[in-house]
Amino acid sequence: MSLQNSYTWVRFPSRPPILMTSQEILEKYLEFYKKRGHKQIPNVSLVPQNDPTLLFVNSGMFPLVPYLSGEPHPLGKRLVNVQRAMRFAEDLNEVGDNIHTVAFHMIGNWSLGDYFKDEQLPWAYEFLVEQMRLDPKKMIATVFMGDKDAPKDEVSIKILQKIFSKYGISAKENERIFARPKKDNWWQRGDSLGELGGPDSEIHYFIGKGNAQGKDPIEHEKEFVEVGNSVFIQYKKTEKGWSELPQKNVDFGGGLERIAMVVQGKTDIFETDNFWPIILKIQELSGKKYKENELTTRAMRILTDHIRASVFLSMDGVAPGNKDQGYVLRRLIRRMVRNGRVLGIEKDISVSLVPIVCKTFSWLYPQLIEKEDDIKKIFSDEEIKFGKTLDKGAREFEKRKIEILNFTGTSDWLKLSEIAFDLYQSLGYPLEIFIQDIREVAPDIDEKEIEKLFNEKFGEHKDQSRSGAEQKFKGGLADQSENTIKYHTATHLLHMALRKVLGDQIVQHGSNITGERLRFDFNHDKKLSKEEIKKVEDLVNKIIEAGIPVNFEILPKEEALKSGAIHAFNEKYPDQVKVYFIGKNIKEAHSKEFCGGPHVKNTSEIGHIEIYKQDKIGENLLRIYAHIKK
Ligand code: SER
Repeated sequence: MSLQNSYTWVRFPSRPPILMTSQEILEKYLEFYKKRGHKQIPNVSLVPQNDPTLLFVNSGMFPLVPYLSGEPHPLGKRLVNVQRAMRFAEDLNEVGDNIHTVAFHMIGNWSLGDYFKDEQLPWAYEFLVEQMRLDPKKMIATVFMGDKDAPKDEVSIKILQKIFSKYGISAKENERIFARPKKDNWWQRGDSLGELGGPDSEIHYFIGKGNAQGKDPIEHEKEFVEVGNSVFIQYKKTEKGWSELPQKNVDFGGGLERIAMVVQGKTDIFETDNFWPIILKIQELSGKKYKENELTTRAMRILTDHIRASVFLSMDGVAPGNKDQGYVLRRLIRRMVRNGRVLGIEKDISVSLVPIVCKTFSWLYPQLIEKEDDIKKIFSDEEIKFGKTLDKGAREFEKRKIEILNFTGTSDWLKLSEIAFDLYQSLGYPLEIFIQDIREVAPDIDEKEIEKLFNEKFGEHKDQSRSGAEQKFKGGLADQSENTIKYHTATHLLHMALRKVLGDQIVQHGSNITGERLRFDFNHDKKLSKEEIKKVEDLVNKIIEAGIPVNFEILPKEEALKSGAIHAFNEKYPDQVKVYFIGKNIKEAHSKEFCGGPHVKNTSEIGHIEIYKQDKIGENLLRIYAHIKK
């Protein structure tokens, strides 16, 4: 089937049918908001900079946290973008249905203390109804019902009623608009103090049969897709509860892939242009059909989702490993190998799909074309390693075959689940493959029961061994405590000092800050000597002792570059940038850097810095750790 044929023409009685690719949807969205005074901000790496609480960028608002709290943004108060993001629910097992994906793109627009509900809500609907030609009769709105922290969002209800009436719909509460509690209609990224949040209003699009009217989208979850969420960020979490921020912000986010799904008239996200080319390739590799049976559909969805997420991660510099982001990538690749085998594809599954992903998304990420070969090599090495585990498992299965056949003969699913668990624990041999092996010799097994018993055992096991990486999935707020702000300014000073001591070729390759320390990666081919460390520390501490003011200026990018301000390696900057400098003025500053902030007001606030650890993390890459002396 060609990609063209995979779309459905969307028809409305009074409007012409339209056909839109995800690229066109995005272009229309950006144009819509640019016409309304918004400036586009970059789509940044999935790996968060300076946020130890979060493994992955998980929403479009991620880079905007400081500005929502009041820091001026160099591009102004109205912003728009598309941002790649990753979210994990309880675990990866949710992927496999018609809608859940690990990686997605969020289209977003923001008002940083500028417009509010009166503009945001009508615009959001105007875009979806008039630009995307979605049917307003299929839209159900939800709002915050109010509690001790904030009142019921009556203002949004009134605005929404006006919007619907424009499309000839009388929008009554509990028919078209549903007020819901905090768990559904309040948005905040995590639970720490300093967290920003507020009531939100969601737009749910009906994909079920019959009428949408009267159906609460949360209760009829399977019949709706959430296509947009306007968060009214106006509160900050403090020790005493939620208190009003000095400015009222709008944070709108909509899943590009989900919008594409309804615009393209599909009820399965995998049948849209973002995924379908990958499914086609898997069908070709496996000789099986997507809709052949539940097992093939699920395996193909998992493969399609995971390869996309893995390619994006690899594009952002993540390599398979045992920790943090690397651990996630490893798991994704391993699940691909397993699901490939479920479909009868024995080798090179991820490798064969990389070119399709690179091609499908080159319109958004032209760099993928260049990176394709490197990504293939990395995935191939990982697959070979995991393939060996699988071969070991298969040999063990052969050894225990008679025992296994005995249990299939007596339908002893408990014993079979125990063997499966044993193979899993000792060799990492996956359940799916084990079941596939048994089915070849005994087709009549109750695999659901074996899976259930296995999962019960696995549940106990998982609780004991939950990795740090998984816990971090739950997310949290970019920490803006006093300490992290101090370490942020200290990072600038350290960057400056390293360049003075080692030379101007030194560039930041990565930075990570917690409340206890800073970590800084830069290009250097050996560890620092004692003398070098001392020189760097002295330079930094002299400026801290001198009590130098810290300020910023917002400049056109060219001018900022000319000022000699340093900037992170490998990062795209918008046309207007903010430059933080440490000194009386930008010209004579000790340090000047492209940076969003926030920073301390004066270096005297920091306290003496000490470099306490260094690791060589690559051929020409050194990682140093520093903290404030107690
Ligand atoms: N931050 C909100 C979300 O992620 C809206 O952008 O849903």
